[in-house]
Amino acid sequence: MKKIVLPLLFAAFCLFATFSAQSTEAKEKNQCVECHQSINDGSIVQKEYNDYKKSNHAQKGVTCDKCHGGYADQKDKEIAHRGVRPANDRESLVHFQKIPSTCGKCHRAEEDAFISSKHFKKLSTSGKGPNCVTCHTPKKARILTSEVVRFLCRECHNKDSSYTSNKLTSIPADAQNTLTLFEKTTLNADWLGEYLSLATKTKDVSSQQKQYQDLKRKVKRAKVDWHHFKIYDTQVTLRELLHEAEDIKESIK
Ligand code: HEC
Ligand code: HEC
Ligand code: HEC
Ligand code: HEC
Ligand code: HEC
Repeated sequence: MKKIVLPLLFAAFCLFATFSAQSTEAKEKNQCVECHQSINDGSIVQKEYNDYKKSNHAQKGVTCDKCHGGYADQKDKEIAHRGVRPANDRESLVHFQKIPSTCGKCHRAEEDAFISSKHFKKLSTSGKGPNCVTCHTPKKARILTSEVVRFLCRECHNKDSSYTSNKLTSIPADAQNTLTLFEKTTLNADWLGEYLSLATKTKDVSSQQKQYQDLKRKVKRAKVDWHHFKIYDTQVTLRELLHEAEDIKESIK
């Protein structure tokens, strides 16, 4: 009797183990992504997925439901789509006026800065201000470079624009300069980091290490503060940070 029971128990255990593994796997799988990745009909819906799949968001597990709502644990399309509304529906989480708060669930600091800007004011009144995805695109979570920013801002900041009344036509070039400063600051901070880690081997640079960490925090802060769109203030801050990086480096010699 014992001889039969033991293998049976063992078999039952294996069966249980596979079942529970399967069910946790099914739970972990995001059904929005699972189903959408297999759509292959050349539609806009497929294109959205293709844009998404290479993004930093996709890599970090920011799945469709985080921005669109719905039920990500449901395999059935109709049930999964409950609460998912097309972008032109005012109640949709991705309606253009709702986008800042949808992104702000995870990017709270950027949202807070953005809400104080003229851009947000225009967005929430006439609808003519940019929202997060005007600049970052809905799917790629694009990081803007000094080269592309000029063209982007020019879409509304040009002398024939029906969007802006003040015709601040220098904005595109000024934005490009600001982002160039961002790029320089980031690069110099990175260099400083390398320099410090080499110096650590021969000197005590602990106070400079602290200053360097502080500098990195300030650069991050500036990227958030940029979303007030007080671009001349941002330029002043970045020039100060460039000096700070220089001073830290000098103090090591
Ligand atoms: C079983 C397959 C399946 C699942 C699961 C699924 N979708 Fe879809 N989804 C589709 C298909 C197919 C379309 C194309 C339009 C249609 O057939 O309804 C679509 C369309 C969409 C659209 C465009 C809607 C519109 O009105 O234009 C969005 C947004 C969307 N899905 C988001 C989601 C989200 C978010 C989830 C998870 C909570 C999800 N989908 C789960 C198959 C699926
Ligand atoms: C980071 C937030 C975010 C994620 C993640 C995201 N989307 Fe979107 N999606 C948006 C926004 C915002 C729009 C509206 C774009 C606009 O206003 O042009 C949009 C638009 C769409 C549209 C256009 C049709 C419509 O009216 O809604 C489809 C289809 C879509 N998304 C599907 C998906 C699918 C499928 C996934 C997951 C594979 C996904 N999205 C993940 C933010 C997101
Ligand atoms: C569920 C949380 C979540 C939501 C909602 C979300 N994001 Fe993100 N986002 C992230 C995470 C996580 C990262 C990766 C951060 C990192 O790599 O340090 C990220 C990164 C980014 C980046 C930087 C990309 C890069 O390559 O470094 C941008 C830009 C961005 N998100 C914009 C948006 C926009 C615009 C929306 C709304 C349409 C949005 N996010 C909604 C979590 C989210
Ligand atoms: C008018 C254009 C514009 C709008 C609107 C905008 N951003 Fe940005 N955002 C930028 C630019 C340009 C940068 C680049 C600064 C940098 O990182 O060098 C940036 C940087 C970021 C970053 C940091 C990426 C990185 O380099 O680490 C995140 C996250 C982000 N934005 C999220 C948002 C969210 C969320 C919203 C809406 C509440 C928003 N942005 C609205 C232009 C915009
Ligand atoms: C979708 C259109 C649109 C885009 C794209 C856009 N803006 Fe604006 N911007 C506006 C509107 C509308 C105003 C409000 C000014 C007005 O009433 O004429 C404004 C105002 C501003 C102001 C003045 C803010 C203040 O507080 O006085 C700055 C600076 C600015 N934008 C920078 C930028 C930068 C930098 C970019 C590109 C990264 C950009 N904008 C892209 C529509 C846009």
